[in-house]
Amino acid sequence: MATTAPVPGTDTTTEPILEVEGLVKHYPLTRGVLFRKQTGAVKAVDGVDLALGRGETLGIVGESGCGKSTVARMLVGLERPTAGAIRYRGEDVTRLSGRALKAVRRNIQMVFQDPYTSLNPRMTVGDIVGEPFDIHPEAAAKGDRRRRVQELLEVVGLNPEHVNRYPHQFSGGQRQRIGIARGLALRPEVIVADEPVSALDVSVQAQVVNLLERLQDEFGLAYVFIAHDLSVVRHISDRVGVMYLGRVVETGTDAQIYGHPTHPYTQALLSAVPVPDPAARDRRERIILTGDVPSPADVPSGCRFRTRCWKARQRCADEVPRLAVPEAFRGGGGPAAHPSACHFAEERRAVPPDEPVPSRGGAR
Ligand SMILES: Nc1ncnc2c1ncn2[C@@H]1O[C@H](COP(=O)(O)OP(=O)(O)OP(=O)(O)O)[C@@H](O)[C@H]1O
Ligand code: SF4
Ligand SMILES: [Mg+2]
Repeated sequence: MATTAPVPGTDTTTEPILEVEGLVKHYPLTRGVLFRKQTGAVKAVDGVDLALGRGETLGIVGESGCGKSTVARMLVGLERPTAGAIRYRGEDVTRLSGRALKAVRRNIQMVFQDPYTSLNPRMTVGDIVGEPFDIHPEAAAKGDRRRRVQELLEVVGLNPEHVNRYPHQFSGGQRQRIGIARGLALRPEVIVADEPVSALDVSVQAQVVNLLERLQDEFGLAYVFIAHDLSVVRHISDRVGVMYLGRVVETGTDAQIYGHPTHPYTQALLSAVPVPDPAARDRRERIILTGDVPSPADVPSGCRFRTRCWKARQRCADEVPRLAVPEAFRGGGGPAAHPSACHFAEERRAVPPDEPVPSRGGAR
């Protein structure tokens, strides 16, 4: 259980196992060759709060460069945060070291975006999938490794007899299955999947998403599922966090975010999602965002979204909006009552009212 009070607005649907509070990653910008001087910082992640429940899927969406992969790398320990806490079962991982850290790390594994570059072409599939056992030899006795690797290949739908083949002998979808098998090897409780299907053909994407869902049920896994495709995230997620320029701007259940978004950025993103029914498509109001995403090295004052927001007013430049349930929706308990970092949050359905909003169960 958490040792501190829960982060406001990050209620999970099950007992929280991973909680992120005030997570920051700044990359220093330096000048000079001999006497390097810091001239600023790329604020890749700048105060992110998130929570993940046991067996739950948290989708993270946002445009390119908003900090999704940086969050992912910090969650699995590939990068150290500049500030903030990452609590796994109540324990702040950022303060652990040595054996204690290693024990926690076993439980949080990653699946990468690009199955073409994330697998070493000179290693056999068996060595790739079994690699986590080199780092955690306690997880599998040496003599038992080959059998374990073959079991893992079978679990992800690959032929266990192909254990001695090399990555180039597999298709893109099969390679991502190899990456998933490697992620599963240590029987983690959490898998952070950073755009796991974005590099794959559309026809193969559904197969890999279905595999991830089956594995979730089979092993009780919790996922942090990162994508820029809102349709894929809607299909797989129980809850969703929308990121913009290093921050989470809106978070809630998939029904809340897709059916009752209150943050202008979420509304704009959703208005661009393809709607299959032409009649519904005609009734929908498209929001075209103008201007580019500002540089994370020079973020706007107040609300970061204000340079592209059609509702921006003076208050938006003066005051940073907190990620909390907006005052207008507090007490009502309706679906719009979920955290949104906007001073002027309003409900605006992105999908026409009579259009069903698929939930996780219904969309499968
Ligand atoms: N090592 C680094 N040094 C400096 N800046 C970095 C570094 N890694 C990432 N950044 C910057 O941090 C910001 C966030 O990058 P990140 O890769 O996390 O975004 P993302 O949301 O995953 O984008 P994408 O959808 O394109 O994968 C970007 O502006 C990126 O250029
Ligand atoms: S706080 Fe202001 S600028 Fe930011 S999203 Fe809300 S209305 Fe737009
Ligand atoms: Mg990324």
